[in-house]
This record gives sequence, structure tokens and C-alpha cells, in this order.
Amino acid sequence: MSSVSLVRLDPTGADRADLIAFLTGEEFPFHVRRTIARADAEAAVDAGAYRDDEHDTSWLEHDELGRVGIVRLEDLADPVPLFDLRIAGRFRGQGLGVPALRATTDHVFRTLPEVTRFEGQTREDNVAMRRVFVRAGWVKEAHYREGWPVEGGRPVASVGYGVLRRDWETGTTTPVPWDDDER
Ligand SMILES: CC(C)(COP(=O)(O)OP(=O)(O)OC[C@H]1O[C@@H](n2cnc3c(N)ncnc32)[C@H](O)[C@@H]1OP(=O)(O)O)[C@@H](O)C(=O)NCCC(=O)NCCS
Repeated sequence: MSSVSLVRLDPTGADRADLIAFLTGEEFPFHVRRTIARADAEAAVDAGAYRDDEHDTSWLEHDELGRVGIVRLEDLADPVPLFDLRIAGRFRGQGLGVPALRATTDHVFRTLPEVTRFEGQTREDNVAMRRVFVRAGWVKEAHYREGWPVEGGRPVASVGYGVLRRDWETGTTTPVPWDDDER
């Protein structure tokens, strides 16, 4: 059983160079921007996009493989945070997605006591991420048809998932009440 943990990084200090190298050295086919130019990465990091009142970022560290990716928490000033999880290309497809998302979920509920739910979104064709959500005990809550613009192509759906603190605490999965006729 592989183990992944979060190690908080210092985006404008000790970890700046490694973070920028990660962001600019990888491809992210299911993000709005597939590649990130160095100048854009530097500007975002220096503007606080990876750590400020709304954001915090950690390395994803595997007990045998070492650093396998990053996770950025977003909307931290709101009661319901979001996240952006990025595993390095050479470590994708090896079963690290679920332990990475579980570690992220544990981290959020353990360190942010006021957070009662945690959300994530991905595009419909990111099959690996959608499987990771479900395998990690998250519940699909939305399917926004044509909600994700694609440059030079037809928009795809944006799919939203959530996990409740009470489900995380009890190890249960509360389904969404989809039937509008049920009273
Ligand atoms: C999305 C991501 C986190 C998934 O993690 P991963 O470690 O690559 O995925 P896993 O190896 O754990 O695979 C999870 C499931 O998806 C399947 N899968 C993996 N890669 C796949 C692919 N390219 N196409 C289809 N299915 C795939 C696996 O078979 C597995 O299915 P199973 O649970 O039925 O066995 C990772 O690929 C990644 O960081 N990608 C780039 C960034 C990104 O898209 N992040 C999501 C933003 S929300």
C-alpha cells in the first residue's frame, strides 16, 4: 500500500525554483492551460497564487518515490475550499491519484476545523481524475454540460465532486437526492 503525504512548500522562498521548474516542465492536458510559460509561472508564484489568504500549496511526497507532484488548495477564505492536484507525468497512471486525494482530504479536514465540505472539479474527459474522485469516496454533485471552454474546439462538460466532513469522519458516502419529484 503506497503512502502519500503533504509537505507544505514555501513558494516564494526555499521552494520557488523547484516549484517553477515543476510548473513549466510538465504538461497538463486537462487544464485550461496545457503548458505554463516560465514568465507566467514566475508572475503567478510571486503574486501569491500558491500561498496567500486564499491559497496554500504542498508537495505530494511518496514514501518510496519521493516528490511526485503538487496540490494547491484554493478559496481558503471561503467556507468551502477547492483544490488543484497535479502529479508529475512520469508518475501518472501508477495508482497514486487515490492516495494523493485521500491525503489532501485528510489534510483539509484535520487542519481546517471550520470546513464542513470540500469540492473539486474536472473536465469530463479527464477519466483518471473522475475515477480518482469516486475511488477516494467523493460524490459526483454536478455535470455542467458544455461548461468547460476548450481553445479551438467544442466545449466539454465540467464535472463537480464533493466530500462532506461528516462522511469523511464516519467513512460513509451520502448520495445526492437527484429526484425532483421526491418530497
Ligand atoms: C488526474 C491524476 C491526478 C490521476 O492520478 P493518477 O495517479 O495518474 O491515476 P491513477 O493511476 O491513480 O488511476 C486512477 C484510475 O484512472 C485510470 N486511469 C489512469 N490513467 C488513465 C488514463 N490516461 N485514461 C483512462 N483511465 C486512466 C486508472 O486505470 C485507474 O482506474 P481504476 O481505479 O479503475 O483502476 C493525474 O493523472 C494527474 O495529475 N494528471 C495531470 C493533472 C490533472 O489532470 N489533474 C486533475 C485536476 S483536478
